[in-house]
Amino acid sequence: MAQCLGESDGLTFWLATMQDYDEVMAISEDIYGGNDYLPHRYHSWMTEPDRVTIIARRDGQLVALESGLVVDGGTTVVVEGLRVCPSERGHGVAGVIQRMTDRYIKQVYPNVNTKRLTRGDDPGPEKLSKFIVLARRAVLSLCGEAESFKNFVLALKAKFGSLEKSDGSAKPQLTVLKDKHHLKAVLLDPGLSSRLQLPAGSIIQDWQPLKPVESNLEVLNRRNLTWLVDSSNDTPIFMSLYTPPYPVPFNGGSWRVNIDMYGEDLSLAKNALITNLEQVSKIYGIVFVHIYMPQSLWEGLRTFCEGDGGMKQYRDYWEQLFLESEMCRSGY
Ligand SMILES: CC(C)(COP(=O)(O)OP(=O)(O)OC[C@H]1O[C@@H](n2cnc3c(N)ncnc32)[C@H](O)[C@@H]1OP(=O)(O)O)[C@@H](O)C(=O)NCCC(=O)NCCS
Repeated sequence: MAQCLGESDGLTFWLATMQDYDEVMAISEDIYGGNDYLPHRYHSWMTEPDRVTIIARRDGQLVALESGLVVDGGTTVVVEGLRVCPSERGHGVAGVIQRMTDRYIKQVYPNVNTKRLTRGDDPGPEKLSKFIVLARRAVLSLCGEAESFKNFVLALKAKFGSLEKSDGSAKPQLTVLKDKHHLKAVLLDPGLSSRLQLPAGSIIQDWQPLKPVESNLEVLNRRNLTWLVDSSNDTPIFMSLYTPPYPVPFNGGSWRVNIDMYGEDLSLAKNALITNLEQVSKIYGIVFVHIYMPQSLWEGLRTFCEGDGGMKQYRDYWEQLFLESEMCRSGY
């Protein structure tokens, strides 16, 4: 049974339910150029612990959605999924639903004092003035036919092999962190943040920022990630997180792969990229690969991925912005 949370600006606000799926999809056409994660995630959002998803209706019609996940031991809400139906855009509806969501979250989770979000566009300093810009990460976006994906990875492997040979020096290897206790020890190591230069001391996994604290391990554990670190010693200087491919709406059905990299060693980044891409399976149609990294790695990885093999860079340099604002008592 849908629960009404209140009214404002001619809109009514409700906790989203499974039954709202089709209406949410109807307002989501073409979002993120067909790379929208919500069609795939919506159902799991409905049952995810400490997540609140709110929809707005005007005259019964669904017109907007926003979601928030309470993390960092209950002190932070990460807001995601914001969207407004095309006919209502440009009239402040996004602001109204954001304020309602903030207020509701503050009411249900009074210990939340910080709001965090990531976004892929930069509206300029004036619009960002209500936030602290915690970090900017570079994004390399590739796209190609799933059929040629294996050849692309083979070509990268060959290129990496010949680079290694010509260089001659012994390169640190990568290890998959399979053991939960090992992963926990690495993530909770107080030196991790400075060694990997984590953005504002956080890990951003497929656009979701989380502090490396014990309570977030369970959140990360839900995501079926592959963690890679350099195995030179117990204090890694490089880490990558691979989010398994998931379907996105582009062209009636495509796939999206996300890799988040931390640390500035280009050789490790290339090696991690190959290891991660070798894991990709069961894809068809078009595949998008988004790699998020420190700015210093971008050009090196771009040229590494350039050339043969079927996957092409389909967007110029772009950035993931990591933003924060305070959550006041009233939610504003
Ligand atoms: C981005 C989108 C939600 C904006 O909705 P809108 O109602 O047209 O927004 P408006 O331009 O009227 O701006 C209203 C408020 O929303 C805020 N806003 C706009 N875009 C935003 C964004 N991407 N992230 C966070 N806040 C945003 C504005 O700062 C403004 O806030 P204020 O009222 O507190 O000053 C809408 O264009 C949309 O659904 N786009 C497709 C989905 C998308 O790109 N979502 C972005 C997720 S990061």
